[in-house]
Amino acid sequence: RAKLMRYNTVDDAVRLIDKSQNIIVITGAGISTSLGIPDFRSQGTGLYSKLAHLGLSDPQEVFDIEVFKQDPTIFYSVAKDIIPSTDRFTPTHKFIAMLHERGKLLTNYSQNIDNLEIKAGLPKEKLIQCHGSFGTASCVQCRYQIEGEKIFSDIRAGKIPRCTRCLSSLKAAGAPKRKRSAGAEKKRKRWAEQDSSDDNNSEYDVPSAGVMKPDITFFGEELPDEFSRRLTENDRDKVDLVIVIGTSLKVTPVSEIASFLPPHIPQIYISRQSVTHINFDIDLLGDCDVVVAELCRQLKWPLVHEMVPPDQEITVKTE
Ligand code: OAD
Repeated sequence: RAKLMRYNTVDDAVRLIDKSQNIIVITGAGISTSLGIPDFRSQGTGLYSKLAHLGLSDPQEVFDIEVFKQDPTIFYSVAKDIIPSTDRFTPTHKFIAMLHERGKLLTNYSQNIDNLEIKAGLPKEKLIQCHGSFGTASCVQCRYQIEGEKIFSDIRAGKIPRCTRCLSSLKAAGAPKRKRSAGAEKKRKRWAEQDSSDDNNSEYDVPSAGVMKPDITFFGEELPDEFSRRLTENDRDKVDLVIVIGTSLKVTPVSEIASFLPPHIPQIYISRQSVTHINFDIDLLGDCDVVVAELCRQLKWPLVHEMVPPDQEITVKTE
């Protein structure tokens, strides 16, 4: 996509926001880092830098559905650190809610699973949680779905949550026993260290209940249906401005939303560093809380928030 050469200053961004009425906001982990929630790919501080001890060939395997099915202990060894654990939100979340309050927000496509958009006052119908959320959890075996919070205590205790429906049907069927192979026995021992429900110490294998998985979207899983439905059937023809905030745009299909939209629609990118694989009309580089505070100042919108950061320089990429 070629840049629209008409726009390249903060003033242009302010004018565009001021006149637009159907803004798509695409967000990533960078909008929550000022609360101490790590993003994924920032060197040193991102979640993936911190997973070296797991010995994975690629840290993204933590969120790979095939890996999860083979060995859920890998995901559950980090899950306790990524369960949403705060009700606080950042000035950037507040800014998105303000776009809505002023009748300017079409949809916020968020890759985040912390649910802080809602805490900041965004109504559910304005939010597409592209990578799902911890709000519900499902059994990988029988797809039984429960409220996500019901597995939080197991996750926090480092245990593998099991499906209660599978468990009751196994009990009802009298769970037939089979002699366990040497390989299966080795795997069982490894699991048993983390899995409280595994009290089966005999050499016979009792078929076990399915493992529960939070309904966050793993690599290898489809995004929620509403993602492409909303984008193609509603938003594509209405959007008049795109604002992308705090995402490295490394993961499809969210990274492809911007190029899917009509090329004449102006696009603004707000993040610490610019990306080279996608052309934005305006790159506002800096901490996103600082950038949105400046935008609000110029728009004369009162961004009343306990965390509005002190003035810092914002770089506008102009090449
Ligand atoms: P990334 O960690 O890939 O990107 C976050 C971006 O935000 C980086 O470019 C940071 O430089 C920037 N950033 C961090 N803090 C910032 C701040 N305070 N102000 C401005 N910019 C800041 O995270 P995502 O792009 O969200 O998916 O990652 C996308 C997906 O990859 C995630 O949803 C997750 C992950 O694998 C799944 O697990 C399926």
